Amino acid sequence: MDKFVIRGGNPLLGTIKVSGAKNSALPCMAAAILTEEEVILENIPQVQDIETERKLLTSMGAEVELGYGRAQHRTSIRCALLSDPVAKYEIVKTMRASSLVLGPLVARTGMARVAMPGGCAIGGRPIDLHIKGLEAMGAKITQEHGYLEARADRLKGAHIVFDKITVTGTEDLLMAAALADGESLFENCAREPEVTDLAALLNAMGAQIEGAGTSTIRIKGVAKLHGARHRINPDRIEAGTFLIAGAITGGDLNVDCCNPEHLGAVISKLEECGVKLEIGADNIRVHSGGNLKAADVTTEEYPGFPTDMQAQFMALLTQAEGTSVVTENIFENRFMHVSELNRMGANISVSGRTATIRGGAKLQSAAVMCSDLRASAALVLAALVADGESILDRVYHMDRGYERLEEKLRGVGAQIRRMGEVFGKK
Ligand code: EPU
Repeated sequence: MDKFVIRGGNPLLGTIKVSGAKNSALPCMAAAILTEEEVILENIPQVQDIETERKLLTSMGAEVELGYGRAQHRTSIRCALLSDPVAKYEIVKTMRASSLVLGPLVARTGMARVAMPGGCAIGGRPIDLHIKGLEAMGAKITQEHGYLEARADRLKGAHIVFDKITVTGTEDLLMAAALADGESLFENCAREPEVTDLAALLNAMGAQIEGAGTSTIRIKGVAKLHGARHRINPDRIEAGTFLIAGAITGGDLNVDCCNPEHLGAVISKLEECGVKLEIGADNIRVHSGGNLKAADVTTEEYPGFPTDMQAQFMALLTQAEGTSVVTENIFENRFMHVSELNRMGANISVSGRTATIRGGAKLQSAAVMCSDLRASAALVLAALVADGESILDRVYHMDRGYERLEEKLRGVGAQIRRMGEVFGKK
């Protein structure tokens, strides 16, 4: 199992480039199921979750080509024949976003068998709202031996008011409604840029979707969708992670190829902490001469502060002057990084959904364990300022969603190495 060895203390200086958004790329790849023609996606990040989705689509009979060389971030998907419309447990268990194929599969083939995802490190993560929505569109859903089976000759447009805002739930049903018979009206939708990105691809494929990016989306179902070419949005969470890397190390970092418009809540909080930002059209320069101030953070659905930035921001707050309170509203168990940060010398206490961070801690290097994607990013950030060499175990969590992180950070002066095995086998 790979590990990272990080020696803290270097300010990050120079330009670092942001990759395409994993959480846009995943639903966009699933959208290719909706047509027998070729869908070409550009700016696909080279991360493990994308490889998992490729395997998932291929196992159903799709042809998926991940580009290489100059075309390395381009993927072409052709779902001419979907001979086996099943998402097997072996794949779903490694990536919950696999349930994104449920809606498009039943819409295109009339049948889908998808393994029920279990909980994960950050919470229970049910998919009841995906199921309820598909039932409202006329699908018959049964559950047996850990699999959901959905059947419908043709889905029908429906009026759905989401009980709770769900990102992949909105995306899954959007794809289903695109090929349904008649009009759908969705209310209380997720407004994340990833939903907007998916809707842009679907419209390029011939769908008729209006209102993506707002809480009300109208979809006029069409009988057929065609192939398209689409460029994936930059990853706002990777960009936010780099902004914190620049700030926490007291560096001067140009975070390039990002979309600052998607980072509003993160930018405001960084400024509240005293971080200096210069915002361009597709880049943000961050510089901080220390003197970080405490700030309270509450995670919310977009455009609020993203839960996917909570762990990384907490790492920054350990270095701020004063006491900060972080409230996690989206997932019930997303504080797994706290005990590891405390092992590095942070002073954080948790009560229910609230963490209190007493800032100004002098972080020390330690051997720590990554528990999920964003928790891993928080530990990398802490290790970048810790005194000495930290060893981060289980960095496969990191590889699910950050492309070549160690190379990118090394390029701006971080001391970080990947180790296949730190200690030789006996
Ligand atoms: N929820 C339900 N029922 C459902 C669906 C969701 O109760 O049917 C609950 C969840 O348990 C959670 C809340 O609703 O408490 C929000 O969950 P949501 O469905 O929005 O999360 P998701 O779609 O499963 C996506 C991202 C996550 C990100 C969340 C929130 C993808 C592939 N994943 O998950 O990204 O944290 O939205 O913004 O888009 C990550 O990248 O590290 C990551 C976990």
